Amino acid sequence: MGPPVSRRVVALCLPLLPLALLAGERAAAVTLSTSSRWIVDQAGRRVKLACVNWPSHLEPVVAEGLGRQPVGAIAGMVVSLGFNCVRLTYPIALATNASLSSLTVRQSLLAHGLAETAGGVEVNNPGFLDLTLIESLKAVVNALGEKDVMVILDNHVSKPGWCCGNDDGNGFFGDRDFDPDLWVDGLTNMATTFADVPNVVGMSLRNELRGPRQNPEDWYTYMERGAEAVHAASPRALVIMGGLSYDYDLSFLAARQVSVSFAAEGKLVPEVHWYSFSDARAWEAENANEVCARASREFARRAGFLLARGLPLFLSEFGADLRGGDPRDNRFFPCAASVAAEHDLDWAYWALQGSYALRQGVAGMDEAYGVLDWSWSKPRNVTVLPRIQSLQRPNQGQFVYLCHSSISVIPSSNGMCHLMTGLCVVRSGAAAATLELGPCNETDAWGYAPPSSTLVLRDAAGLPCLRAEGRGQPARLGTKACGDAASTWRLASDSGMHVAAVEMGGGDGGMVCLDVGEDGRSIVTNPCACLRGDGTCDPERQWFKMVTSTRRVTRRPPADTIA
Ligand SMILES: *[C@@H]1O[C@H](CO)[C@@H](O)[C@H](O)[C@H]1NC(C)=O
Ligand SMILES: *[C@@H]1O[C@H](CO)[C@@H](O)[C@H](O)[C@H]1NC(C)=O
Ligand SMILES: *[C@@H]1O[C@H](CO)[C@@H](O)[C@H](O)[C@H]1NC(C)=O
Repeated sequence: MGPPVSRRVVALCLPLLPLALLAGERAAAVTLSTSSRWIVDQAGRRVKLACVNWPSHLEPVVAEGLGRQPVGAIAGMVVSLGFNCVRLTYPIALATNASLSSLTVRQSLLAHGLAETAGGVEVNNPGFLDLTLIESLKAVVNALGEKDVMVILDNHVSKPGWCCGNDDGNGFFGDRDFDPDLWVDGLTNMATTFADVPNVVGMSLRNELRGPRQNPEDWYTYMERGAEAVHAASPRALVIMGGLSYDYDLSFLAARQVSVSFAAEGKLVPEVHWYSFSDARAWEAENANEVCARASREFARRAGFLLARGLPLFLSEFGADLRGGDPRDNRFFPCAASVAAEHDLDWAYWALQGSYALRQGVAGMDEAYGVLDWSWSKPRNVTVLPRIQSLQRPNQGQFVYLCHSSISVIPSSNGMCHLMTGLCVVRSGAAAATLELGPCNETDAWGYAPPSSTLVLRDAAGLPCLRAEGRGQPARLGTKACGDAASTWRLASDSGMHVAAVEMGGGDGGMVCLDVGEDGRSIVTNPCACLRGDGTCDPERQWFKMVTSTRRVTRRPPADTIA
């Protein structure tokens, strides 16, 4: 989300902002920890994780894509797409089975019948072919480090292969391929191996626990053991803990906290996943406003509540079919993005890979959720990229400590983001009274007081309020009768994302909603679409999320008051 603070404030802060933070929050060689619900660097400054998942846990245990593009080029695309971090997956066997980890990339690919991929690695990454599998993972981490990309190592499975099923033997402690002691050994080995690699900032203990054996009691027993093992071997690393039911559910943490010896060091970060398929039928059949409202409440219940308890929350997998053809994803993704924006979550998009060397027995399988295309050479769909990228910049947090200013507090203000395009509502020109979609990093700050008030652009002197002029007409800034029905806006649907007023001269009390004009750019008002009930129509065009920035500017406090 763009930083919805007034330009005045930004300008004030600029001279003191380190360059790394301006460049999309990039920060290598940082040691991260938590400070209440934020992840911060050594100086107490917020670092927002805007990650992308990159798998290296499938049968060959070779990072996907190495047969298609040079590793430096892939790392370069991660950066140019705006991500500051990669959640890099591995199977625990890589750290516990010496005959696996000592295989070379060439041997492992050939053993899986992937001569073509081996040929691709020879062309694109010749230095990798004769590295062992563990060396090749290190080389990928280093290539990301050279581009200042942070890495979170995620133990995705025990036995190499696609994840996940309830009965695949990898789901929960005690399953066929999930010996807890071996797992703890593996975590220790991995944490030790990467303890001194500066861009490895976190270790995720285990992806998507699940299956008939799962229960909270064992979760605490083993996850606390795993956490202690990782922290002992790599005290710098964030220790990231996923929940039950495919990392959908952390609600059990409401009743009992995680107990570890290093609690005071601020290293524990819960992670959660969210996809349309958890509520597939609802997204498909019901009214999207109602489903979004319900799914957001459910998200709060199963994980979001942790923020209010002073823990960060890492949305470490969420994603959508980027070809645009899945109606469930088209409704789900803007809804999930609105929640991620509202809470300014740390997150990791699933996924980077445009295709796999081998997935579920299919060589060269396409990944429709991948930000890269099948060949890993370019983005899959530039039209939808901003939906993801609008979430990359922080909109709240601890920048406050950077500004030595005499201003004590800037009242919170709102930015308005259009979730279907990932663009923000900006003025059409410096002095213009009309609005259009523009980049979220250039967004304007709005004053708005829910549930119903005028919408005032903070920096538009002489143009105090926004009015609904009628159907198909541009919404217009002006001085006229601020506060009458045509300039009093309320959030009209359960999703809270329809911004509605009564159209001017609307004798029939006609309500209109902010919408995108036929040019795909201008902000107009139109009759509100499918506010409730109807499950057949798509409201996303009229979904505008009001995102509150609570970024404050205060005098720099002493460092020890930050935590
Ligand atoms: C260790 O890895 C090798 C090579 O992939 C494999 O053949 C063997 O079955 C693995 N051992 C165990 C105990 O999983
Ligand atoms: C990109 O996404 C848009 C919007 O969902 C869709 O209409 C278009 O077909 C997609 N293009 C490609 C190449 O997938
Ligand atoms: C906003 O982002 C766009 C595209 O990334 C860039 O061209 C532009 O310079 C940025 N504007 C500001 C004010 O940073």
